[in-house]
Amino acid sequence: MIEKISKLRDTAIGRIKEAVSSTEVEELRVKLLGKKGELTEMLKDLKNMDIEERKQFGQEANALKNELTEIIEGKFKELSANDVKKSLSSGSNFDISLPGTNFKLGSLHPVTIVQKEIERIFTGMGFNIVDGPEAEEEFFNFEALNIPKHHPARDMQDTYWLENGSLLRTHTSPCQVRAMQKYGAPLKVIAPGRCFRNESTDASHENTFFQLEGMMIDKNVSIANLIYVMKLLLSEVFQRDVKIRLRPGFFPFVEPGFELDLNCMICGGKGCPTCKHSGWIELLPCGMVHPNVLRYGGIDPEEYTGFAFGLGLTRLAMMKYGISDIRVLNSGDLRAMEQFSVR
Ligand code: FA5
Repeated sequence: MIEKISKLRDTAIGRIKEAVSSTEVEELRVKLLGKKGELTEMLKDLKNMDIEERKQFGQEANALKNELTEIIEGKFKELSANDVKKSLSSGSNFDISLPGTNFKLGSLHPVTIVQKEIERIFTGMGFNIVDGPEAEEEFFNFEALNIPKHHPARDMQDTYWLENGSLLRTHTSPCQVRAMQKYGAPLKVIAPGRCFRNESTDASHENTFFQLEGMMIDKNVSIANLIYVMKLLLSEVFQRDVKIRLRPGFFPFVEPGFELDLNCMICGGKGCPTCKHSGWIELLPCGMVHPNVLRYGGIDPEEYTGFAFGLGLTRLAMMKYGISDIRVLNSGDLRAMEQFSVR
């Protein structure tokens, strides 16, 4: 057996030395030391040997394995150094001083950056972040928000219905009711999430977009609290004074209800396709939670009041980063996305 090992050693070393390419060396490595390689095959005979013979054979085989591994590694290095020399002397344009390939790191989506920023602002004020399903039940998306079947307000949100009777949520407001039912009052929550509406797209409308719902319920919560929180939110997000306007707005789940519009930051209020030439962007509808909605949430409207808002998160990201067309944000176009390199 020892003779077999020494014979293998002689032929193997010769074959490795004669190899002229890295592929050839790799093939030899597998043939000699691989799972079904010649040396490994020899080791299978160990089980038929007596203890003394096994010990000696084992040691010799191991030493050969180490020796061949070392020679193979050396050969690999030699061949790759030769490749570089050959390429340099052949006058090709290979420049070893050039920097290597640059692997780019990804970056967060602008909507995610703004969402994280708002989560930071609200958690700092003691709000919790809650979640809800994107495939929602009709009850939470409409009924529990004081929008019964056949109410005209349903038409304002063109709905994608699913075959099982549920729907793709048209807004994040269903999270209000789910949070009230789960946690009761007092309550301070925000719920960021994706919404879906079957509408034609244009510079400021997508069929898939993000909103961020907010709700605060306690004893004696008033419109003053609502306005304070909305102002604080916008001044923190933009870090400068922004022009807003508050006007009455109708939503069956708040009373009174408001529309908070932001002066269009794409055109500075002059009018452009993004703001449909009005100079204003509808951004932050809000209001005092309707007593019926509090009841659906299991909260007594005689004891508690609250405000709620439904921020258009995608539109806010557009305004913050000066993106004039909402469709860019869902396009997956890295040329647009990689400009926002916050990681
Ligand atoms: C609602 O969805 C209400 N649930 C908001 C609300 C919550 C009111 C709580 C009162 C209390 P509205 O349909 O206006 O409201 O949408 C809210 C915001 O989402 C809009 O101001 C706008 O910024 C954004 N938005 C609505 N539709 C789209 C769309 N198709 N594409 C992009 N953003 C949209």
